[in-house]
Order: sequence, then structure tokens, then C-alpha cells
Amino acid sequence: MAKIGLFYGSTSGDTLKASEMIAAEFEDGVVELHDVRKASAEDLNGYDAFIFGTSTWHWGGLQDEWAVFEEELGAEQIKGKKVALFGLGDQKNYPENFVDGIGLLGKKVKSLGALVVGHWPTEGYDFVASQAVAGEAFLGLALDQDNQSDQTPDRIHKWVTLLKQQLL
Ligand SMILES: Cc1cc2nc3c(=O)[nH]c(=O)nc-3n(C[C@H](O)[C@H](O)[C@H](O)COP(=O)(O)O)c2cc1C
Repeated sequence: MAKIGLFYGSTSGDTLKASEMIAAEFEDGVVELHDVRKASAEDLNGYDAFIFGTSTWHWGGLQDEWAVFEEELGAEQIKGKKVALFGLGDQKNYPENFVDGIGLLGKKVKSLGALVVGHWPTEGYDFVASQAVAGEAFLGLALDQDNQSDQTPDRIHKWVTLLKQQLL
């Protein structure tokens, strides 16, 4: 059975909740959750693929603990692996930096040789600019618990359905 490491950073609990919902969509035992606040570089060992989740803070910055853990990511664990990204943000109050964290993590893992899968359409969101947009789509799943929490379960279900084809 393939093993996926899901690493998340969450300041007020939204990304944690989304991480648990994502893990629950897979078969039992496939996804292991790691809070980057407590994770070390060794925790990245032994996975076939990764899911990285971050919220965006400080007008376009990575979640605080991700900003620290990002430095631990090394090509030896990431190179050649598939990585799916998701991010929490607030399109109403931060329309010019909506889910920028997805873009920041995407840049990092690509620079380490990862293949980013699980791109997500931008339809259904109302924002001005985002570092998470690559071409026509977000680089990963964008979630907005502040303004569109009712859509989160459906978005997660559809995204994980896609990941079961693209990530595994
Ligand atoms: C001070 C502050 C700055 C924020 N900056 C951004 C931002 O630049 N872009 C964005 O999309 N969301 C921003 N947010 C919204 C959070 O990312 C959002 O509330 C998210 O759900 C928090 O998730 P977490 O509890 O997992 O950290 C900001 C929120 C606060 C309070």
C-alpha cells in the first residue's frame, strides 16, 4: 500500500481541520498526518508521495511554522516525488494575496525536483491576485473557511478523487 505523508501548518486550526478531512477521504492507513510545528526532516523519510497544506498569513506569507520547516525540506526526500498542495486563505480580506502560501510552497518543492500534481480550477473564487495561480489554475486546492466554508467538504472530496489518479 502506498504511503502518503501529509504535512500541514495551521495557526488557528483551519488547515488542521482540512488536513483531517483530506486524510479521511483515503483508505485507512494511507495518509499519515504531521504538524510541521513538531516535525523534523527525518519525518519526511519513507513516503511514496506527499501532500503539503499551509494557510497564508502576513499579507502573502507562509504560515509561521511552515516558514521554519520549509528550510528542512531537502532534495534527497523530495526529488522525483509527487507532491500535492492545498492552502487556506481569505479571498474577501486578502484579495491580492489569496492563498499565496500554495505558490510559495510550490516554488520551493519544484526547486527541489518534485512534480506538483492536483491543480485546481480558479472558477468559483473572487480574488484579485494570487501567487498560487499557474496558467489557468491554482497549483493546488484553495480553501476559504472564512467565506466559503460550506463548499469545503465538496471541494475536498473532488480534489481527493483527482489525487487518487494523479498522486498514487
Ligand atoms: C493577520 C492575518 C493575515 C492574513 N493574511 C492572509 C493572506 O495574505 N492571504 C490569504 O489568503 N489569507 C490570509 N489570512 C487568512 C488566513 O489564512 C485564514 O483565516 C486561514 O483559514 C487560517 O488558517 P489556519 O487556522 O490553518 O492558520 C490572514 C489572516 C490574518 C488574521
